[in-house]
Amino acid sequence: MPKLIVVNRSGEESTVEGDAGLSVMEIIRDNGFDELLALCGGCCSCATCHVYADPAFADALPAMTEDENDLLDSSDHRNETSRLSCQLVMTEALDGLRVTIAAED
Ligand code: FES
Repeated sequence: MPKLIVVNRSGEESTVEGDAGLSVMEIIRDNGFDELLALCGGCCSCATCHVYADPAFADALPAMTEDENDLLDSSDHRNETSRLSCQLVMTEALDGLRVTIAAED
């Protein structure tokens, strides 16, 4: 099972495991991180699942859609590593991915 490293808003790092095929948002939520609201349940319409993804995995991450890009633009905390975690499907290629939960908008 691929591992996901999650950094919460206090900077604490935890390593969790998640089935390939689940989204990074689902893995974070299922492991009890209540900072990630994911209000829309993963349909790419809320941006409350905003994370910063380790740039070392940039090539392994799925391409960003226009919808995701537009939603991220609505965040005051966007940076070049910003992604919506509901749009990142976990795969073996993402084993060891480190994501940091972005500040709340
Ligand atoms: S959970 Fe709403 S955009 Fe990701």
